[in-house]
Amino acid sequence: MAEPDIERLSQRHILTSRLQLVPFTANHITDTYIGWLNDPSVTRFSKHRSRSHDRASCEAFLKTFVGSDSFFWALELQDDSYRHFGNMVAYVDRPNSTANLTIMLGEEDLWGHGYGLEAWNGGMTFLLDEVGLRKVWAGTMATNAGMLKIMKNSGMISDGVRRREYMWEGKEVDLVYMATFRGQA
Ligand SMILES: CC(C)(COP(=O)(O)OP(=O)(O)OC[C@H]1O[C@@H](n2cnc3c(N)ncnc32)[C@H](O)[C@@H]1OP(=O)(O)O)[C@@H](O)C(=O)NCCC(=O)NCCS
Repeated sequence: MAEPDIERLSQRHILTSRLQLVPFTANHITDTYIGWLNDPSVTRFSKHRSRSHDRASCEAFLKTFVGSDSFFWALELQDDSYRHFGNMVAYVDRPNSTANLTIMLGEEDLWGHGYGLEAWNGGMTFLLDEVGLRKVWAGTMATNAGMLKIMKNSGMISDGVRRREYMWEGKEVDLVYMATFRGQA
């Protein structure tokens, strides 16, 4: 397969039936957005739970994508509001043709409406079919029921477990990996 044109692909708007995944820009760094990253219920299952964020840390994170092979998307509703309600990141490992896909929905009133799965499927299809990667994988705590469902419902298959990887809310928790492959039957 020909080398993907990452610069062009990173500018793509990925449309799903109700959402769009657009390149994350400095304009997305609002007080609301910074608030998500400091909200314990949003970061409950994330490594961000033990960090605090401000505008400078968000800008520094955005900068890490300049010139990289990875993708950082803002998730927006495709309605009159174009409300920014979450993010997705695909950390691409070009030599191995893989990506680690991650998602965070910051607006809690939009949880449980199928937006997470819809965005996930849109990102996964883009990475496999347009970027041409071989494998897309994800990892989550065994206690993150919503994320596990998204991984399974998107067709990902088991890709291993790191036992007792995290201390989470006073107990040892496994880190569960799942993956999907281009052309997977
Ligand atoms: C986890 C997250 C992405 C789920 O997104 P979402 O849009 O609410 O999920 P969906 O509506 O697409 O739901 C997918 C499935 O998970 C279920 N689900 C969603 N949240 C759930 C929860 N907290 N507990 C149990 N099941 C849940 C839904 O009922 C649905 O199940 P179904 O297929 O049987 O109908 C979102 O809640 C989130 O971003 N949370 C904070 C950040 C986070 O945890 N990110 C993942 C870090 S690895």
